[in-house]
Amino acid sequence: MQDYLYYKNALKEVSKPCAFLDMDILNQNINDIAEYSNYKNIRIASKSIRSVAVLKKILGSSPIFQGIMCYTADEALYLLDNDFDDLLIAYPVWNSFHLTEICKRVKNDHIITLMIDSVEHIDRLEKIAKQEKGMFLVCIDIDLSSDFFGLHFGVHRSPIKSTERFMAIVNRVIDSSYLHLDGVMGYEAQIAGVTDNDPNQHVKSRIVQLLKRLSSNTLIQRRQNIIQALKTKGVSLRFINGGGTGSLHQTTHEEHITEVTVGSGFYSPRLFDYYQAFHRAPAAGFALEITRIPVPNIYTCYGGGYIASGAAGEDKLPQVYLPKGAALINNEGAGEVQTPIHYKGNIQLQHGDPIIMRHSKSGELCEHFNCLHLIQDGKIIGKYSTYRGDNQCFL
Ligand SMILES: Cc1ncc(COP(=O)(O)O)c(C=O)c1O
Repeated sequence: MQDYLYYKNALKEVSKPCAFLDMDILNQNINDIAEYSNYKNIRIASKSIRSVAVLKKILGSSPIFQGIMCYTADEALYLLDNDFDDLLIAYPVWNSFHLTEICKRVKNDHIITLMIDSVEHIDRLEKIAKQEKGMFLVCIDIDLSSDFFGLHFGVHRSPIKSTERFMAIVNRVIDSSYLHLDGVMGYEAQIAGVTDNDPNQHVKSRIVQLLKRLSSNTLIQRRQNIIQALKTKGVSLRFINGGGTGSLHQTTHEEHITEVTVGSGFYSPRLFDYYQAFHRAPAAGFALEITRIPVPNIYTCYGGGYIASGAAGEDKLPQVYLPKGAALINNEGAGEVQTPIHYKGNIQLQHGDPIIMRHSKSGELCEHFNCLHLIQDGKIIGKYSTYRGDNQCFL
């Protein structure tokens, strides 16, 4: 793990605020994730990367990395124009302009797979495919959340909560002249996206660990039932997708899974610090510049208010990473234009010095910066454009 002076020196010529990618750590994270894959394919969650160059680097590093899990139709079309293929859009698309464009690309033999979970989605796609005299590749999203004593453990996404409902959708797709059933996806968000080892919340972490164990048993069984029903019907699929960074250790060991999605694990943002089964060093971060010292031990910097999405809470704030011991101030947090930092350590901070920060989530960092400055062996070796730097704003 590198210290404050390492990043201070590496970034000394870069104007701030700036985002950076520690390539030594990124390479390590890529290798570790490939090693953890248990020979399943890893599909890259682009929402957690948001840079064409980084996506290309990861895909090119090992044949284990296959395909992209995109987050919008526009993004999938953009990636197709940038020589990517095998694009799974993980969230349903309704917009007719986007669907028409995708239909045209599929006609030209590109692989863009759409997510569906209902008859309404099917009707919508059929209507557009009919108009375009084309067809769509579809993936069915199954719900894998759990309910314990009135507590919903998981996320609200797909209404497909039983094998019967799933098979009703499968039958409707199979009977359609406009749809081809390409895959099935189930995202166990309550395992992959919930921290279970927070040193500041021992009791809560123990409860989450227990809930995760209980929920894992039922979701694995639910996935098995669905696969069994597909087999009985004689349906074979190109892929069965599950998981995310926080469930890599267990989803890769499920027999029927053909691919696991990973995104956040590459940059390893703050939210992923507190998992029992996931320990990666942070590869991405950002640096702010101290521009004023209003009172001793308070260092006010330009920028910094990059708050993560999700249920609002302290864990969605950026983390002051280095120097060690520096922290945000409760009353002000991370500001729209200025962020005061409290620090009372051994390093003599001055005007112009950087404060090294981490975003709470992974790819959202890239929405605030045009590029990621690449650090290797203590030096800047180049930069990668972000989606924002490409003038692309998908969500
Ligand atoms: C459908 C789906 N799969 C996988 C993931 C996991 O992404 P990550 O590895 O960045 O946590 C997500 C994240 O929200 C998701 O929505």
